Amino acid sequence: MDGAGFGDAAMSDAGTTEALLDVLAARSTADDDWTTLPPQAYRSQEIFDLEVERVFRRGWMNVGHISQLPDSGDFRTIDMFGELLVVTRGHDDEISVLSRVCTHRCMDICAGRRAGTVPSLQCPYHRWTFSHDGELRAAPEMAETPGFDKADHGLHRFRHEIWEGFIYVNLDGQAPPTAELWGAMSGQLGEYGLADWEVVDSTPWGESAWDWKVFIDNGECYHHLGIHHDTLEPFMPARKAVDLPDNGEYTLLYAMMDESLLVPSADGALDGASDDPPVPGLTEQQRTGLGLAYPFPNYVIAVMPQSAIWFEVHPLGPGRIDLTTHLMLPPHLVGAPGADERIARHNETVTAIHEQDIIVCEGVQRGLGSASARPGMLCHLEQHNRSFARWYARRISTP
Ligand code: FES
Ligand SMILES: [Fe+2]
Repeated sequence: MDGAGFGDAAMSDAGTTEALLDVLAARSTADDDWTTLPPQAYRSQEIFDLEVERVFRRGWMNVGHISQLPDSGDFRTIDMFGELLVVTRGHDDEISVLSRVCTHRCMDICAGRRAGTVPSLQCPYHRWTFSHDGELRAAPEMAETPGFDKADHGLHRFRHEIWEGFIYVNLDGQAPPTAELWGAMSGQLGEYGLADWEVVDSTPWGESAWDWKVFIDNGECYHHLGIHHDTLEPFMPARKAVDLPDNGEYTLLYAMMDESLLVPSADGALDGASDDPPVPGLTEQQRTGLGLAYPFPNYVIAVMPQSAIWFEVHPLGPGRIDLTTHLMLPPHLVGAPGADERIARHNETVTAIHEQDIIVCEGVQRGLGSASARPGMLCHLEQHNRSFARWYARRISTP
């Protein structure tokens, strides 16, 4: 692929985007292409606007894990591309994803509250009251309004699905079911039983100065030997990473632990050395590696035999995301003795690694903004990047 011409400030925005989409359309079918996505794809408002329409609204966006809504009446709010969402657990235990826009005069019914537990969803403006699945239950003084019927004024319900315990919303309502897209991955990581795990601690990193695609690109293990040479590389060397087969809708790779860290366990298999017992029933690869699962586009989970880090990523604009990391534990370790020490130990490790990732993600985003930036070539250890580039190229170039 010839990247010349991209980044040419003399080109008009419209011309640049059109040319870029032509390049990406060609990329989406080129199996032997080992180049990175063009730098321009990471920095343009016009491309971001297209991503909202073609990638995010048409796809499945991660909006939480069921353990964040453990009790009936719980809610959690998320703003996404101008949509005001509230994820709820109703009194019948069912999860819903609703619009927070009041059907009276469009007030945000949660008015700045991020999470909580309520008997019903009540708009503070005029006290219209909705059930957790969006039905309008009470509307004071509305009986005299001709033609008003409560049944016609429920909150908008967005289509949602739960995949491995994680809640996903599809804003345009047309996406193929998650089972069709990611069922194969469920088969590859079902042993972890992630639906039963719990979020035990969260770290909000806030607005981060890199594109959501830079974040996904950073999911390879090649960079263990670079920026993580003193943290991850000694334990999970870059060259030992393994890419699992995928269907083009996700990637799943394993960073395998160095042999020197493996210890024989009671059942004769090998385990990574740890004070905590692993989830029972894992495969050898799962017991001795770090699984990195990327159901595209906005979700990453890094899962170990005894813990996981889920990265909640919300694209805000070209080169901007909102990022929160969540520590998750399997059921046998939730509430186990030493919980505070365990959480503190995990947070210290994740912070050390993420601070290194911040350096490279910010640095890459600055580099992508240069007029002289050109597509580069990928390493065989960046199969993940190649798969993601092809998936992205296909989605963004589909009108
Ligand atoms: S705007 Fe919500 S009750 Fe009036
Ligand atoms: Fe990293």
